[in-house]
Amino acid sequence: MVNYKDLGLVNTREMFAKAVDGGYAIPAFNFNNMEQLQAIIKACAETKSPVILQVSSGARKYANQTLLRYMAEGAVQYAKELGWEHPQICLHLDHGDTFELCKSCVDFGFSSVMIDGSSLPYEENIALTKRVVEYAHQYDVTVEAELGVLAGVEDDVVAEESHYTKPEEVIDFATRSGCDSLAISIGTSHGAYKFKPEQCTRDPQTGRLVPPPLAFDVLAEIEKKLPGFPIVLHGSSSVPQEYVDIINANGGNMPDAVGVPEDQLRKAAKSAVCKINIDSDSRLAFTAAVRKVLAEKPGEFDPRKYCGPARDEMVKLYKHKIIEVLGSDGKAE
Ligand code: G3H
Ligand code: 13P
Ligand code: ZN
Repeated sequence: MVNYKDLGLVNTREMFAKAVDGGYAIPAFNFNNMEQLQAIIKACAETKSPVILQVSSGARKYANQTLLRYMAEGAVQYAKELGWEHPQICLHLDHGDTFELCKSCVDFGFSSVMIDGSSLPYEENIALTKRVVEYAHQYDVTVEAELGVLAGVEDDVVAEESHYTKPEEVIDFATRSGCDSLAISIGTSHGAYKFKPEQCTRDPQTGRLVPPPLAFDVLAEIEKKLPGFPIVLHGSSSVPQEYVDIINANGGNMPDAVGVPEDQLRKAAKSAVCKINIDSDSRLAFTAAVRKVLAEKPGEFDPRKYCGPARDEMVKLYKHKIIEVLGSDGKAE
């Protein structure tokens, strides 16, 4: 048994309370490899932003969970080395699907876990979430739950259609499950193709897809029912079209990739939404930079020569999100 406090990590409780009060959101960035982690820590150290490092089931399979956990421990030291005196870094399990997985993360030094029972019948979601909460809280580990279904495809979480969270259920769900934060469905989805072209209009000038707005009315209803309760938005990448263009111009093929416009995320960050999950945008930044280098220098075979520029691009992206979208800069001096 390792307690996260011994690793210099923090849970989400204080982060979220401050974010709700201050009208900003904490970035939750997924990581699968060293370059992503370096970029996240560098961006957060330079902006003094609290951060949630997320590990998905896919990341555990790809990189090995033991290695990822030790990397997160190393990240705290790296942050200090970069001159960030009091780093506020949370290590979080993204989309945990069983009690056993959540327990193993709690026992292994994670400071926060998500139990995603959103595909289960309502009562089963409550029962599973409550079981995780009862275990995690013994160690002061915070728990995110999910109510409502996001459309989209991930490695281990697949849903054809989205079902908005029902505001009339949230008080009962949060009270009976005891969760610390709640992920809701208001129209976001995972991946780089968040909306089908038929759900969008097209900008006549650029020909680009213009997505439909998020369901802010549903969010407002939820806030009214649970004032001050931390709300989480998954699937919040904005799929920057500059990256999609670079990818497509350098041998890629991502037609009609589209995300959540940043003005919508800015608006959400000012509300009860205090955790915004971003993974796909980092993948796009990485891929765009790698494709560009390899297209321009076909003889290059040293991974540092293309992973280095990819890492620099991700630092830019993360800083942009922190400063221009979420407003979390300067909140962890
Ligand atoms: O919510 C999903 C994250 O983007 C993780 O995706 O399962 O492909 O690692 P992944
Ligand atoms: P994106 O695919 O929009 O980056 O969402 C990531 C996410 O929700 C991780 O849980
Ligand atoms: Zn997610």
